Amino acid sequence: MKANKTSIYNFGAGPACLPLEVLAQIREDIPDWYDGMSVMEVSHRSPKVMDMLSGIESDLKQLLKIPDEFAILLMQGGARAQFSGVPLNLSFLNPMADYLVTGFWSDLAFHEGKKYCNAQMVATGLNENFSTVPPEETWECRDGALYLHFTDNETIHGLELPHFPIQGGAWLVCDMTSNILTKPIDFSRIGLIYASAQKNLGIAGMTLVIVRRSLITHPHPLTPSTMNYELFDKSQSLYNTAPVFCWYVFAQILKWTLRNGGVEHFAKLSKQKTQLIYDIIDKSNIYVNPVDPKYRSRLNVPFSLIDEKKEAQFLEEANRAGLKQLKGHKIVGGCRASMYNAMPLEGAQALANFMQEFEEREKAS
Ligand SMILES: Cc1ncc(COP(=O)(O)O)c(C=O)c1O
Repeated sequence: MKANKTSIYNFGAGPACLPLEVLAQIREDIPDWYDGMSVMEVSHRSPKVMDMLSGIESDLKQLLKIPDEFAILLMQGGARAQFSGVPLNLSFLNPMADYLVTGFWSDLAFHEGKKYCNAQMVATGLNENFSTVPPEETWECRDGALYLHFTDNETIHGLELPHFPIQGGAWLVCDMTSNILTKPIDFSRIGLIYASAQKNLGIAGMTLVIVRRSLITHPHPLTPSTMNYELFDKSQSLYNTAPVFCWYVFAQILKWTLRNGGVEHFAKLSKQKTQLIYDIIDKSNIYVNPVDPKYRSRLNVPFSLIDEKKEAQFLEEANRAGLKQLKGHKIVGGCRASMYNAMPLEGAQALANFMQEFEEREKAS
């Protein structure tokens, strides 16, 4: 590993930083993972991969306390593929599906969903530039809708729902791409959860789908086989050639998460890390965060400098100080600090210190 690796903190929103311990394990395993071969060369149907797969399933069940009636699927095409996969697989018998729109990603999911089912938006935060969520009592949920789709954490706008919706649909369908493994999950109303891997589950190339088996028996007849949940369940996610290296990284991440205190530990840590940054912003005269404090994300903190002309300088100096990938998403601009489980508390503290010092320097100049 390069000498300076430990002094760099990567705040990228995904691909995001991986735990140093996991990177070290990958390096050790690469040349000879099984029988003289690297993990990238071994058949996806080999006993070694099957073992790894059952380890993934049991570690994930242990971490999230997933009930037995749920299938755990490892799919491809990113979370975006699930924007189509969900309605294709779930809504053939009952095509009424409600969507809560709280930011860029849930809006995209809604527009994709509309292609395949009778999708209706129950509420949107668009008029407030996605800085808050309309109160739940104003949502127009329909009786008889099969599911309510929502994005638990909006990665770009930096909003997270403080709890799962109480009303809406027979089942909840939740995009947890940017906050899975950061809090315990109550599965009682969950129909399906999906999350692509490149934030908190490893690297791009794999999407986790956790779905109630009773909902996947009647896919739309035109559902591509590569997106068919029932087929993936029956074939243990081995319908086509699997991205074994992504699975291997995922397996390492799960073990690392278990070793480090599980989701309860990371729930506390996530709050602690982002609070350090929100505290700096709230007492500052130069930084702002646009989000209603009730919905502030514990994972992604978007912020901007009141004097926009200073932003490039801020990002440049942060980069030189080892604080990487802080530029905000192009649709909202500004800066964004993403801190998933692999970001240590020291990283958040280093950013908080840097922001404070930058402000003091600005005041003095
Ligand atoms: C909440 C959320 N949903 C969906 C996506 C899309 O994921 P992918 O690029 O894996 O399709 C992202 C990507 O950042 C995301 O943050």
